[in-house]
Amino acid sequence: MAGKESIRIAPPEGKLGVLLPGMGAVSTTFIAGVEAVKRGLGKPIGSLTQLATVRLGKRTEGRTPLIKDFVPLAGLDALEFCGWDIYEDNAYEATRKAAVLDPMLIEKVREPLEKLHPMDAVFDQNYVRRIKGPNVKEAANKMEKAEMLMDDIRCFQQRTGVARMVMVWCGSTEVFHRPAEVHQSLKSFEAGLAKNDPRIAPSQIYAYAALKMGVPHANGAPNLTTDTPALLELARERNLPICGKDFKTGQTFMKTLIAPGLKARMLGMSGWYSTNILGNRDGEVLDDPGSFKSKEETKLSVLSQILQPELYSELYGNVFHTVRINYYPPRGDAKEGWDNIDIFGWLGYPMQIKINFLCRDSILAAPLVLDLVLFLDLAHRAGMRGIQEWLSFYFKAPMHAPQLYPEHDIFIQLMKLKNTLRWMRGEDLITHLGLEYYD
Ligand SMILES: NC(=O)c1ccc[n+]([C@@H]2O[C@H](COP(=O)([O-])OP(=O)(O)OC[C@H]3O[C@@H](n4cnc5c(N)ncnc54)[C@H](O)[C@@H]3O)[C@@H](O)[C@H]2O)c1
Repeated sequence: MAGKESIRIAPPEGKLGVLLPGMGAVSTTFIAGVEAVKRGLGKPIGSLTQLATVRLGKRTEGRTPLIKDFVPLAGLDALEFCGWDIYEDNAYEATRKAAVLDPMLIEKVREPLEKLHPMDAVFDQNYVRRIKGPNVKEAANKMEKAEMLMDDIRCFQQRTGVARMVMVWCGSTEVFHRPAEVHQSLKSFEAGLAKNDPRIAPSQIYAYAALKMGVPHANGAPNLTTDTPALLELARERNLPICGKDFKTGQTFMKTLIAPGLKARMLGMSGWYSTNILGNRDGEVLDDPGSFKSKEETKLSVLSQILQPELYSELYGNVFHTVRINYYPPRGDAKEGWDNIDIFGWLGYPMQIKINFLCRDSILAAPLVLDLVLFLDLAHRAGMRGIQEWLSFYFKAPMHAPQLYPEHDIFIQLMKLKNTLRWMRGEDLITHLGLEYYD
C-alpha cells in the first residue's frame, strides 16, 4: 500500500544522450554491450536497472516489480552516445584495441560503433603522464576550452535530437591533487579558467561544461573533479544531480562485501594486504605514482570507514592495510587480485582468509555506467539536485555532505538506493523491523 504521495517525475520522453569523456576500455565495453543487448546478443548482467527487483510493502503482499517497471527509466533504445578521447580511433577500433569483448561479438555491432568518432579532448599531460595522443583541443585558456566542449555538446544535441543528456567521466585517472583556493567558489573557479590556473584539471573543465549545459555528471575515476565547493555550487544552482567517485568494481567491491560481514560478527582484524596485476591502459596510467596516489586514497579509505576503529579499537585499532597495483601487460583487462586478510576470533585466536579474484575490470564496470546513466537521468527528471548519496552503491569513494562520513557498506548502500526509489514513488520505506508478522 502506498504510504505517502509520490514525487513528480517527468516522463522519459525522447532520446537520452550519453556523453563520455574517455573512450577506452570501460566506455567501449559499455557502448558495445548496450548495442549487443539491444540486438539480443547478450544479457545486461550486473545491472540493477535491467535485472533487479524492488520489494514493496509487507513480505506477505508479494509485490516485487522490476526496478525498471517501478520507476520511469529511459530504455536502452533511447540511448545515443558520444565521447572525447586523445586518440583518433572510432569506437569500433577502440573496442577492438581494448580487447575485452570477443572479436566475433564486436563484428556484430560494428556498424553503430564505427559511426562513433571521438571528439578532440581537453587534455593536460601534467594530470595524466603516461599517455600522449594527437586528438587534443588547442585554445588560449581553459575557459575557451570549456566553451569548445559546450559547442561539442550543442552540436551533438542538434545532430541527434536528444531530449536530455548525462555525462559520465570514463577518462584516465588524473594525478592526486587537493582542492585549492580556486575550487572554493564558482566565481574563483571561473576566474581560474580564464587565467589558465594550473590547479584546474581537465576532468573539471568537462564537468564545468556539462553542468553549464544543464547536464548531470557522474565521475567514474578517483579524480577530484566535481568534489569541490565550486562545482557543487554550480550543480545546485542549475538543479543538477551529481555523483562520484571511482567505480566500485574488483577488489574494493570484494572488500565492501567481506569487511561488513566480519564486523557484523565482531571478528577482529590485524591486516589486509591487497595486490593486483593489470595490463590494460588503465594499468599503465596507474603505474604513474601521481595517478596511483588518487586511486590509493579511495581504495584505502574504504576499510577504515567500514570498520570504524574509533568505535572498536580492540578489534580494528591496529589494522595494517596495503594496496598495490602492478602494471603487467600480458594480462590485459583481465585483472588478477590477491587479498590476504589476517583476522582473529574468540580469545584472540588468529585466522586467515585468502582471495584470488580473476576478474575482468571493464566487464564489471560497464553495467555500473549503464545504471548511473539511467539513475542520474531519473534523478534529474525527479528534480533532485546536488550530491546523490543514494548512488554511493556504485562508488569506492562516495561523495557526501561535508558533515557526514561516507557510507561504504554495500548492503546499507543498496537499502538506501531502493528506499530512495520507494520514496520517489510514495511507497512505504522498508525498515526490516517486521514485528507485526508475529503479533
Ligand atoms: N574498469 C574498472 O573496473 C574501473 C573501476 C574503477 C575506476 N575505473 C576508472 O575508469 C576510468 C576508465 O577506465 P578504463 O579501463 O576505460 O581506462 P582506459 O585507459 O582504457 O580508458 C581511458 C581513456 O581516457 C582517455 N583520456 C585520458 N584523459 C582524457 C581526457 N582528458 N579527455 C578525454 N579522454 C581522455 C584515454 O586516452 C583512454 O582512452 C579510469 O580512470 C579508471 O581508473 C575503472
